[in-house]
Amino acid sequence: MNLSNEQLKQFEDEGYIFLPEVFSKIEAELLKKESEKVYSLKRKEVVRELSGVARTAFAAHTYNEAFKRLGAHPRLLNPVKEILGGDVYMHQFKVNAKAAFDGDVWQWHQDFGVWHRDDQMPEPRAMNISVFLDDVTAANGPLLFIPGSHKLGVVEAGHDTETTSYPLWTLSREKVTELANRGGCVAPTGPAGSMLLFSSLLVHASPPNISPFGRSIVYLSLCHVENHIRAFKREEWIAHRNFEPINALDDNCLTDLINKNLTAAE
Ligand code: SIN
Ligand code: MN
Repeated sequence: MNLSNEQLKQFEDEGYIFLPEVFSKIEAELLKKESEKVYSLKRKEVVRELSGVARTAFAAHTYNEAFKRLGAHPRLLNPVKEILGGDVYMHQFKVNAKAAFDGDVWQWHQDFGVWHRDDQMPEPRAMNISVFLDDVTAANGPLLFIPGSHKLGVVEAGHDTETTSYPLWTLSREKVTELANRGGCVAPTGPAGSMLLFSSLLVHASPPNISPFGRSIVYLSLCHVENHIRAFKREEWIAHRNFEPINALDDNCLTDLINKNLTAAE
């Protein structure tokens, strides 16, 4: 998939691109089913909310076949390689549950702010690409972006180790207010299978999910191979150490898995 000039311009100006229904209903359903299996695992990589429900499953591409395939899917890799200008490796992979009723807030932050401070990633030559596994609506805790905030470089932040079950470098309310007064605040929503590409410098957050509908989203954080992290302070399943370029699989790698499973079940 090639991005259009209009899409590239939107990425440059606003820091994100929304691509509706890149994955089919069947592909999204497969991933959703696999996410439920992953959330039920008692593994260190599955971080839970204070209430006990799954919050985020790190590195699921290393212990689940469907997510392994998604991590090398050409519909994700190609646009990212186009924007970052070359081969990429997986810095982080997570499946975020934002569970019905219990899915907790992600405070305002920039991902590169975290990767730079915690992992010594040299440059913001890295970005996120996410795939919606549920319909994401205004009601179930969508991502919130401040358009244009990626142009400001790394913004001052404090280390929040208290408000949620996962530590993050977060921005002050004063800073967020100042940025949003300038850029506004948007919540890209859409059906399962849709995709969001966003700059690692884009200021973002998400509210708690009080609705009865879950909101699972997979995030691949991809980094240019030359820009790999220099510090290994965090667990390797949070900040990966394999800096080899990812080779894209075939476009039908997920439907192949569905067909294989159907045959095995016969
Ligand atoms: C993130 O910012 O990394 C995750 C936010 C979310 O899943 O809502
Ligand atoms: Mn983030």
